[in-house]
Amino acid sequence: MPLENNADTKIEEKNDASPRKVDRQWIKKLIQKHSTDPRLVPYYKELHEKYPILKDKALVVAPMVDQSDLPFRLICRNYGTNLCFTPMIHAKMFHQKESYRKKFWSYVNGTPPEDRPLIVQLCGSDTTNILYAIRYILKSKGGVDGFDLNCGCPQTIAKRGNYGAFLLEKDDGNLIVDLVEKLVREVGNEIPISVKVRILPSGLDDSLKLYKRIVDAGASMLTIHGRNRLQKGLNTGKADWEAIKKVVEQFGEKIPILANGGISNLDDVRECLEFTGVDGVMSSEGILEYPALFSETNTRAVEGKRTGPSRLQLTREYVDIAEKHPPENGGQGNGIRCIRTHCHKFLHEDLNGRVDIRKEIAVAQDHEKLRKCFQDIEELNKAEGHVAEDEVLAWYMRHRIPRRSSEEYSPPKKLQRANNNGDKKAQSISEDDHDS
Ligand SMILES: Cc1cc2nc3c(=O)[nH]c(=O)nc-3n(C[C@H](O)[C@H](O)[C@H](O)COP(=O)(O)O)c2cc1C
Repeated sequence: MPLENNADTKIEEKNDASPRKVDRQWIKKLIQKHSTDPRLVPYYKELHEKYPILKDKALVVAPMVDQSDLPFRLICRNYGTNLCFTPMIHAKMFHQKESYRKKFWSYVNGTPPEDRPLIVQLCGSDTTNILYAIRYILKSKGGVDGFDLNCGCPQTIAKRGNYGAFLLEKDDGNLIVDLVEKLVREVGNEIPISVKVRILPSGLDDSLKLYKRIVDAGASMLTIHGRNRLQKGLNTGKADWEAIKKVVEQFGEKIPILANGGISNLDDVRECLEFTGVDGVMSSEGILEYPALFSETNTRAVEGKRTGPSRLQLTREYVDIAEKHPPENGGQGNGIRCIRTHCHKFLHEDLNGRVDIRKEIAVAQDHEKLRKCFQDIEELNKAEGHVAEDEVLAWYMRHRIPRRSSEEYSPPKKLQRANNNGDKKAQSISEDDHDS
């Protein structure tokens, strides 16, 4: 029988006014539960002794529309990531449209066991829609480890859709606080409900007051993206770790806090953990370009050298995984388009000035076409004397202000390649900026 007929989406008004008590250690326990995962063991062995601060901390792939898809999550988990978020799932569409539901979650297959721990992110403001999505996903094969509400997206579409960062400012914060309270009352005993927030444009004091209300409403975790909703695109700027530290000081005894923003390598991860006292660090754009970001590569300890896999190696690995676990298989990725977008991010620097290959990737319809492009890149790189050890993040740095460990960052030496209009056009096909 289809779940639609089964799922109880009715919201009963429960009289239990006392908020559910959050187990402060739930994220730590979740990380510990999966600590014997053979993919993680070598990382833990190498890194925990060297950097005790990393022990039991969450190293997290951020929710990313069409980009934190299943094969991307799996490749990151091969290189030290120990917790992933799905891309946001639009709760209203999920409730109302069977086609959307099928695309964004496979009720029958769930997500494979190697894709755990996993938190599903939802966006929306209507309790009925969100509860429907939660119950549907909870009842699917394998289940998941938590649900998160997107209160970070700064885009106009989020404003129109009444979700994302705008939710924090709606109705003096009452809407999000009510929503969390209701969700926690309904399903809080079954599954943690967390919230990913930005800092309010009106400042940290107002933000802290609102976060307090969200915590009091029963949220199980806050992820603090240390920027406000006006900090996007060219105005992205630094993430405010000072603010994140204040959040930890105020609420860190009650619930786990994750830090998000401005993570470009393991040095940043360690500095952020030490400085803010958070329970974990989430990366989005950095890990999108280099899925092995949570390992010891391009760090001071290895003199900034890329000692991890080269970007071409990772791209090939991603495409192999995507063949076995297509992004659209309950993975919320948009098929070959999603794969191509990943390839453009991974290979940003390799495609710089190589107009023809860039265009070929932008229109490739299958894995073999993509592999042929990778071969062409490999040959060109060889001819140009490319050294994988010298690779650094390039796409990630486009609107960043260098910070601490990356202060010495200088853009990679550009090879003598044309950067003509054709290249810019092909670039815009594939590298749309997304600031959620
Ligand atoms: C392609 C892309 C898609 C994103 N989609 C989402 C999303 O679905 N939900 C969300 O809360 N944030 C989303 N974000 C924002 C990131 O989760 C993260 O908060 C932001 O990029 C800052 O982290 P960073 O400095 O590590 O990039 C997205 C970001 C990118 C680059």
